[in-house]
Amino acid sequence: MKTIIEPFKIKSVEPIRFTTEAEREEVLREGFYNLFLVRAENVLIDLLTDSGTAAMSADQWAGMMRGDESYAGARSFYRFEAAVRDLTGMKHIIPVHQGRAAERILFSLVGGKGKVVPSNSHFDTTRANIEFSGAEGIDLLTPEGEDPDLIADFKGNMNVAALEECIQARGAKNIPLVMITITNNSGGGQPVSMENIRKTRAVCDRYGIPLFLDACRFAENAWFIKKREPGYAAKPVREIVKEMFSYAHGATMSAKKDAIVNMGGFLALRDDALAQGARNLLIITEGFPTYGGLAGRDLEAIAQGLEEVLDEHYLQYRVRSVEYLGERLVAAGVPILQPPGGHAIYLNAKKFLPHIPVNQYPGQSLVVDLFRRGGIRSVEIGSVMFGTYDAARRLIPARMELVRLAIPRRVYTQSHIDYVIEVVIESYRHRNELSGYRIVEEAPLLRHFTAKFAPLVE
Ligand SMILES: Cc1ncc(COP(=O)(O)O)c(C=O)c1O
Repeated sequence: MKTIIEPFKIKSVEPIRFTTEAEREEVLREGFYNLFLVRAENVLIDLLTDSGTAAMSADQWAGMMRGDESYAGARSFYRFEAAVRDLTGMKHIIPVHQGRAAERILFSLVGGKGKVVPSNSHFDTTRANIEFSGAEGIDLLTPEGEDPDLIADFKGNMNVAALEECIQARGAKNIPLVMITITNNSGGGQPVSMENIRKTRAVCDRYGIPLFLDACRFAENAWFIKKREPGYAAKPVREIVKEMFSYAHGATMSAKKDAIVNMGGFLALRDDALAQGARNLLIITEGFPTYGGLAGRDLEAIAQGLEEVLDEHYLQYRVRSVEYLGERLVAAGVPILQPPGGHAIYLNAKKFLPHIPVNQYPGQSLVVDLFRRGGIRSVEIGSVMFGTYDAARRLIPARMELVRLAIPRRVYTQSHIDYVIEVVIESYRHRNELSGYRIVEEAPLLRHFTAKFAPLVE
């Protein structure tokens, strides 16, 4: 059959609340036109993030009841450890409460002033933890990944030639590790090929530098490899995952993505001395090494989720539903970052609203319109998030003005996605009526979370 269906039936439902456009206008005004400041109960379809927003399965909920809450040596830890070790092949499996905790521990140990950490693209918490340690994070994305309109299979790849130049310029002794983010979230959820991971590892080996994976969306990445990379079509996703990890010396993971849970993460390492240091830090800030900031029930749910995410019916449905959203928008002429990523569609706000200059935040205008028009919550990934100021307080804009529609795992059905398509297309039809915003209040760091906006045209 050609129709790809949701590979589950629904046992427990959470009602969503319908609001009128007038009510949403009021919600927007009260939230200063920042969707982070809006109560979730006022949102109809929440596409703010795919992180920690998944629906757990009946087996995961059953695992919650099986959770062993012993302080040390809990049964649930050993199940979690076995599941992660099976996939990563790594000796040391260290649980943490979420991805950034693994990053903080890792870069507290290997970062520091004068150190440089290259990546295909660092996620913002990874970069923040690298910089907090005094080190520098560098993005070395393949040139294909820089062009939002280019359709290519692996736009998340590392620029391997640039990596080698970077190592020669900065000195191998100053580079504690090289990181590859799979899939590349900051680069539009684009995958990284096995060949690229292999080539990156070969460069690392030439200079004696360890390779780490930021593995949040490892299963989605493996699915893209299976579908797009020659030689992998017949290989089970589990084997592809194992091969990806086989090239890495370590990995950080936010289980809130491809472990399909609401909280959790891990740091996986091969090196004994590094693992010893990590466990020492873990005990100070996260917890004892057999729970690391999580309850036993969380560890059970992660172990189960890591099994379920490798179900190829699930992955087919997951990637196809995002692709379907992208295809339908493109067919209506809506500009998106191409091709659709694994977990999200990114609307190209600069092309969507060419009449709104970047210093009037076209992405924010679109985010507000999608909420006002249809109760959809999305997130601006442009000059609100990444813009800075020059000495005269003129905006230095971001490279792109995007609006991300991130799809939570197993939460929405095709009719929800059809509704989203309708709202975006309606917004596009009325695009000339949209106008810009100004920031009336902002924090010095990570301003997008708390900034207050006002419309330039009331
Ligand atoms: C690629 C990537 N790395 C790291 C993180 C951080 O994970 P967490 O939010 O669990 O701290 C995220 C979260 O969105 C991510 O997408």
